Parts: sequence; C-alpha cells; structure tokens
Amino acid sequence: MTKHTKKSSRSSSGKSSIAQRVEQWLRIAGNSFSKARESIIPLLQAAQSEFGFLPNEVMEAIARFLRVPPAQIQGVASFYSQFRYEAPGKHRVTVCRGTACHVRGSGRVVDELTMWLGIKPQETSTDGLFTLETVACVGSCALAPLMVVDGKVHGRQTPATARKTMEKISMAESEANHGDKEDAV
Ligand code: FES
Repeated sequence: MTKHTKKSSRSSSGKSSIAQRVEQWLRIAGNSFSKARESIIPLLQAAQSEFGFLPNEVMEAIARFLRVPPAQIQGVASFYSQFRYEAPGKHRVTVCRGTACHVRGSGRVVDELTMWLGIKPQETSTDGLFTLETVACVGSCALAPLMVVDGKVHGRQTPATARKTMEKISMAESEANHGDKEDAV
C-alpha cells in the first residue's frame, strides 16, 4: 500500500480548489432551484451527482445559497442514506439487495466481496480503488442477483463470478501501474 502525500488544495486566493469548483457549480446549477427549504434535498442530490460525494464545502455553499445555517443542511443530509461524505473509490461496486436479488443469493455475493476487498458495504478501500455499496432494486430483476461495476450491469452473479470481476480490475490496475513505472524509467 502506498502512502500519499497530501497536496495542498489551497489556491493563491486562499480558497481550496474544491470550494472554487463548488462555487462555480452552484452559480450555474443554482438557477434551476428555488431558494427555499424544499430545494435542500434536490440540491444535495445534484451536488452528489456532480462531485460523487458531499464535501463540507458543498454543505456550506448550499447553506449560503439558501440562507440557512450549515447545520440544517447537514441535518437533512444525515437523515438519508443515499448521501456520502467521502470521495468514492476509482471503481464503484454496487450489489443489489432488492428482494429478487436477495432470494437468489446477493447476500453471498456481498459476503464474498466484503472478504475479497477487505471493506464493508458503503466503505472505500484504503488504496482508494474500490467502493462497495448496496442498493435496493435497480429495476433489472430478471438478471438477479446482480451487481453494477462502474455503471455496467453484471447479471446472475455468484460469489465466484463477482470475485473474478474484482480480480480482473485489480490485475488491470497493477498492469497500468507497472506500465507507468516503466515509462518513468
Ligand atoms: S431486486 Fe435486484 S434488480 Fe430488482
């Protein structure tokens, strides 16, 4: 496991780059929302789809936009499990835990992935490569049990097929890393 040095995200203006990105985003996205309490959830959803997660800067910017205390935004967000507060891993692995998938063994798929990746659902591996998630029905029950990896649906999964997909991704990542190192020599 490699140790990463934290880069400073502060620009010469003193604002972090994420704060600047959030401000730019809200300047445009804000036009589609009324400045009312009802906009909190849609704004949080829009921000998460833009940034992949909800950094503090998003909460603060939305609070300023709606003229409410940041704690109110955080309070609403914390009520819903759909929101995440850390950057997702490079590869998102989502296992459906809806009824059809559940009865066809999605629990065993989750157990296998939990063991193989060394993380629990809704966590990200320490190398930042994988985020494991579970969701309710994704609407493709005929393919149960299924998982979605980086947006691609993998149907009729077993613990073995799920593990194989992880191994493939992991191998591709180490080959890419190896190639980068060789290029640098
Ligand atoms: S229950 Fe998994 S896709 Fe419907």
